[in-house]
Amino acid sequence: MTASAVITGWGFYVPRSVLTNRDLESRIDTTDAWIVERTGIRERHIVSDGEATASMAANAARAALDRAGIAAGDLDAVMVATTTADHLVPTAACLVQEQIGARRAAVFDLGAACAGFVYGIAVAKGLIASGAARGVLLVAAETISRFIDWSDRSTCVLFGDGAGAVVIEASDGRPGIRGTVLRGDGTKRHALWVEGGGSLMVHLDGPSGQMYRLRMDGQDVFKLAVPSMARACEEVLAAEGLRIGDVTLLVPHQANLRIIEAVGKRLGIDRARVFVNIERYGNTSAASIPIALCEAVDQGRVRPGDLVLMCAFGGGMTWGAALVEWSGGVLATGAPGLRDRARSQLRRSHGALDPR
Ligand code: ACO
Repeated sequence: MTASAVITGWGFYVPRSVLTNRDLESRIDTTDAWIVERTGIRERHIVSDGEATASMAANAARAALDRAGIAAGDLDAVMVATTTADHLVPTAACLVQEQIGARRAAVFDLGAACAGFVYGIAVAKGLIASGAARGVLLVAAETISRFIDWSDRSTCVLFGDGAGAVVIEASDGRPGIRGTVLRGDGTKRHALWVEGGGSLMVHLDGPSGQMYRLRMDGQDVFKLAVPSMARACEEVLAAEGLRIGDVTLLVPHQANLRIIEAVGKRLGIDRARVFVNIERYGNTSAASIPIALCEAVDQGRVRPGDLVLMCAFGGGMTWGAALVEWSGGVLATGAPGLRDRARSQLRRSHGALDPR
């Protein structure tokens, strides 16, 4: 029997520093009212000097591992979904591995822009189904603020920094990740892109700063995102023989409140069953779904047995959806090897077992 892939831990981290719409009013020609009306955003968190993607990811990872009750040393894979790794080499995952001590894990980054978390869910499920891994840490983390043109009012108001993580474990009995749909379309890549910094456009002598800034055609993104996200949701539900009415909570990528509302309307899902927290974080790209998922669970909006539908759209273009039957956390059964190793490690490091 193929093992199911169950989310057993979750956690997130956002930088301490908060940038409000009022702060932006004093820097560029904009207003709090315009930003709230067009995007739903009121404030976002921004990294401080010395902070970047890997350190945020490691903080989120520690919280997720703690919740799962397993030790980093027992992970088989550490995957970081990001387009803003600290360096071109090494990957953010290597830095996270070092910071949390995931000594025996395979480590790699996954680049699918804002859809990175949904892509990562699919990869984790595949690693577990193939038997290649029994414990996977998936972190989605982004430091978009360092790639923003802070004089471009049509993009700089949208984004924030942050990280969200989940631990995904193999289980022989529990329900977990039910299905995923992943899609992409490179022909639309210019609607949202960073031109420089890759192998085609490296200016080692006198770099032109603007080439490294994020550029976006907001209206094109809007028009592409809404039908793509809605279709991915419909496809993943249809593949499982389910309808939107079966979904307890939709946790969409927090791109923009108007996009979220338009996707919800297309799907015909009640507004009360759509999770929104964009007002406090802005668009944190790949990190937005796991941050939202953490808050939804902690607020009691998701309970064991509930169906959670996630969908995202991002640069590339990339998009997709993932359907998860919520397990409620720590595995009572399944993955005994992983859990036994973790417990003995906890016993060694703390002298006693974690009470959970
Ligand atoms: N404050 C005040 N005025 C602004 C601002 C601002 N921050 N930004 C743009 N404007 C002005 C424009 O200059 C323009 O002025 P003009 O008419 O004098 O030329 C006017 O507002 C309208 O500009 P539009 O670009 O047409 O504004 P629109 O209503 O499309 O809203 C927005 C812009 C919010 C970016 C919208 O296009 C959108 O939501 N797009 C989706 C993009 C998105 O969410 N991207 C997130 C990243 S991608 C992802 O995560 C999927």
